[in-house]
Amino acid sequence: MSLSSARKLSVGLVGWRGMVGSVLMQRMSAERDFDSIETTFFSTSSAGSAAPKIDGCKVFDPILQDGNDLTALKAMDVIITCQGGDYTKAVYAPLRAGGWKGHWIDASKILRMADDAIIILDPINMPVIQTALAKGVTNWIGGNCTVSCMLMGVGALFKAGLVEWMQTSTYQAASGGGAPNMRELLLQYGALHHEVADLLADPASAILDIDRKVTAKQRAFTDAETANFRGVPLGGNLIPWIDTDRGDGTSLEEWKGGAETNKIMGIGALFGSTEIPIDSTCVRIGSMRCHAQSLTFKLNKDVPLADIEAMIANDNEWVKLVPNEREATEKNLTAMNVAGTMNIPVGRVRKLAMGPQYVGAFTIGDQLLWGAAEPLRRMLRIIQAQ
Ligand code: HSE
Repeated sequence: MSLSSARKLSVGLVGWRGMVGSVLMQRMSAERDFDSIETTFFSTSSAGSAAPKIDGCKVFDPILQDGNDLTALKAMDVIITCQGGDYTKAVYAPLRAGGWKGHWIDASKILRMADDAIIILDPINMPVIQTALAKGVTNWIGGNCTVSCMLMGVGALFKAGLVEWMQTSTYQAASGGGAPNMRELLLQYGALHHEVADLLADPASAILDIDRKVTAKQRAFTDAETANFRGVPLGGNLIPWIDTDRGDGTSLEEWKGGAETNKIMGIGALFGSTEIPIDSTCVRIGSMRCHAQSLTFKLNKDVPLADIEAMIANDNEWVKLVPNEREATEKNLTAMNVAGTMNIPVGRVRKLAMGPQYVGAFTIGDQLLWGAAEPLRRMLRIIQAQ
């Protein structure tokens, strides 16, 4: 396939209806990505129906194609999938085995660590992407949302080769679990409020009575009311374990923090270098769609704080350095402030008591935007520019 011709690329979209897919459609509309491609929508459940009407998208094919039809998929120059890991497992290998040489852009984790796949986060790893493109790589995988949001904020320190090690404690939103998890969280908040509404309305009621009733209600939620977080209510609670148990004291989400950060930065055995040690404690909290994290770095030399701040602030157009002061932090470094925006605030940047090479920071990003959809649509643009 030559991409140098002037014709528009044919792009197949799979999984455009789900939460990440819907955010991707919004971003592609906003950036007018549809103007420069021939779009075909695929579906695994309603092939043959009319293609969706999406702002700014004049479809190439008015009919939804079957997402499991390898022949239809093979006609695409580029496939972008937000359909999830099971779809990738079912379709990717047979498609390649059938000789398809197009670009596969995927939000799921299945192919992330494959040697012939690049984890895409171009404001941070454009050199890695360009090198891979030149070598003929065609698998482009979105990173774990926590990792992508973190690197958008503090990637400058990794780019500069300053990080000896990093430790992160995360505060991950309900959306990371999926749309049903967000609904479940809100239903629980509502039920907890309902439980104590009469006591709250009475200014003379005792707060410990309110607290006791809330805790009793949390403990009394049914299996159906807590199904999405494995039987544990997130409303008014926190859960310090995300994703599967690796059996070595870490969760899969925590493993991704190290493995993916290194791969995104082009560090590790695959690139002939030694990985930077990264440890994570990943915690689910009751926010909606923004993942936050508290970071501790050991740098390999003593860099003045002002230089560190300048590097972070100047790294990319989305990072917003928040002065390490109370008012600026309360106003800007919150999940609510970031939700639905492309901004990546980084604050609480300071030298730590442990010594001049130790630096603390706090960062937040919308896990559906930079954490999921945005790197995918940007990769399409990078392919078009070849
Ligand atoms: N694994 C992430 C989470 C979302 O559970 O928050 C996907 O990257």
